Amino acid sequence: MSQINLSAMPALAAMPGGRAHRGFETLPPLGTLSTRRYAHIDPRPIVPALGAEVAGIDLRQPGAAAQAELRDLLAERKVLVFRDQDLSPHQYADFLRIFGTPVKEDMVVDHNHPPEVGAIHTQPNEQQQINFWHMDHSFRELPTRVLSLYAKLLPPVGGDTLFASLAAAYDALSDELKEQIEFLHCAHRVTRTQNTKRRYSEEEAEAMENAPPFVHPLVPRDPGNGRRYLFVNVPIYCRGIVEQPTAEGDALLRKLYRHVQRPEFHFRLTWRVNTVVVWENSHTLHYPVSDYFPHERKLWRGVIDATESDRPVAASLARA
Ligand SMILES: [Fe+2]
Repeated sequence: MSQINLSAMPALAAMPGGRAHRGFETLPPLGTLSTRRYAHIDPRPIVPALGAEVAGIDLRQPGAAAQAELRDLLAERKVLVFRDQDLSPHQYADFLRIFGTPVKEDMVVDHNHPPEVGAIHTQPNEQQQINFWHMDHSFRELPTRVLSLYAKLLPPVGGDTLFASLAAAYDALSDELKEQIEFLHCAHRVTRTQNTKRRYSEEEAEAMENAPPFVHPLVPRDPGNGRRYLFVNVPIYCRGIVEQPTAEGDALLRKLYRHVQRPEFHFRLTWRVNTVVVWENSHTLHYPVSDYFPHERKLWRGVIDATESDRPVAASLARA
């Protein structure tokens, strides 16, 4: 019987550069999950970094106390998932009002829908092309904080959506990098995507593309929980660091964008028909997986109008 000769194995310390390779860099502890008790809903964390699956509530008739708990839970967990909810278009619009004022975004709305209930509709034989990590609307002066989707028509398998926590991503940066980026700002500008045609007229899209970029702090503080988060988006929206030369700023943004994509900061949602999701768009990134061609998929979509309190404020200026 042969034996493995351990002394002949390369030592960990002999890795190039003198560093022991133990996988990716270690992450700091994520902290304990909230022990807050919710009396009117039954939330379960999905992964430590973010997400809660919420049971014990019928979204057709949430009472005032349950609504207040949902707002608190959203601020705490950033993505809320509700299964098996049977809502009419008007009941879905009423649900959206728990989180603010829903607004019309889509140019064409289904004939029986209130204007504020749009849809992400991938037609049969149409390839869904927004398959990259991003947040919506970072290129607006007031980026949309709350978005929602409601699954109505799904492919037999596939079409998942991933969500990533920008606060967990920030926490995991080295102290050196945190110091380096604390006072930086990023220029955000719209790019036309597959969804632009559906949501805006040709003139609107052109005006948005030609408008000057909006500048947002790279490290804002979340007024909902006091935590810093990394306000980065996909490079097609996140166009440069204001305080740095182009090449240097772009390299930093690419590095941060790659960092956010680590699986430790995200979870993958598998939709079922009648799953409702509401999430803090400007505190997370999402990735719609485009793996279900040539099947059809339709999700109703709600957008909560951003208010002044949703403006990203630099952590260095915001009160803790
Ligand atoms: Fe999106």
